[in-house]
Amino acid sequence: MRFQDEIFGSEAQKTVATRARDLWRTYKNDGRYSYNGRAVVLTECEGDDTADLLISLTQAQGATACLFLPRAQSEKMQNAIRASGLSSNLWTMCRGQKSTYDAANRILNTYSLPEDLTVECLSQDTETHFVESFASMVTDCGVLVMSGRVMRGLDIPGVTLAAIDGAGNPVASAWGYKCYHEKSGYADHAFWGGLSCRKDRRGHRIALILGAMSIVRLWDEFQVRGFCTGVAAGNTASFSVCEKLGISPSDYVGFGITDPAMFQGGSLTR
Ligand SMILES: CC(C)(COP(=O)(O)OP(=O)(O)OC[C@H]1O[C@@H](n2cnc3c(N)ncnc32)[C@H](O)[C@@H]1OP(=O)(O)O)[C@@H](O)C(=O)NCCC(=O)NCCS
Repeated sequence: MRFQDEIFGSEAQKTVATRARDLWRTYKNDGRYSYNGRAVVLTECEGDDTADLLISLTQAQGATACLFLPRAQSEKMQNAIRASGLSSNLWTMCRGQKSTYDAANRILNTYSLPEDLTVECLSQDTETHFVESFASMVTDCGVLVMSGRVMRGLDIPGVTLAAIDGAGNPVASAWGYKCYHEKSGYADHAFWGGLSCRKDRRGHRIALILGAMSIVRLWDEFQVRGFCTGVAAGNTASFSVCEKLGISPSDYVGFGITDPAMFQGGSLTR
């Protein structure tokens, strides 16, 4: 399969992503699971067997998550995971719908990218060395990248946008993937985010504009009607950019589980 070895990040992250790539063939017809190029995860988390499923997915991959855990259940879930010897961390799930599409259009009508920048949507035609430098730029900003096949739009419908300077170097990113099973309650939603901007180019609304572009494309071309993203506590910049795009904290948390032998204090979101 072309590009199947485009897997990025630390050794532990690469191990999880490689296992997930292979496990996904087994899980993809089960509506409870989703895959976004990083890990096979549980989408909805309300069944009595949630903790057991999360533990077995972590044992198989090294890490997993449940994406929409009702906040009220988070303490009970944390206790169950801790008792199994695994590590966990929580983040806020933020969500936006039509008002997000409207906000994105308003932003695009109001602001423009700096003139030296162009935008590319990664695809099978994108040069391998560019995908690698894009992945490095995003990783340097502390964001976990997806597999090359996912970022190129080959395994899941979606878009990965790169803002590129005049020298051909990536300076910012935004993405969204329609990765939920058609039987899931989130079938028309996207796992959205991946906002990053190289430090020397921050403060010029590049990430905001790229995020808005990704939302409009997902709505118009992929019929996405909801945008969900996980934001770690204290990431003020991320909360702020999301809020400007009408993507606001929900009553759900994302719940990440890692094998402490592979990840020391590692987290799956930022
Ligand atoms: C998040 C990130 C992409 C924002 O990039 P940026 O260039 O600083 O932000 P922008 O210029 O696009 O800002 C857009 C808006 O958010 C606001 N904003 C950005 N950072 C902010 C902060 N720390 N506190 C408050 N507001 C902030 C800006 O003021 C701007 O608002 P305005 O349009 O009203 O002026 C950048 O900080 C980054 O790469 N962080 C590391 C990676 C990360 O955490 N990504 C998010 C998780 S996926």
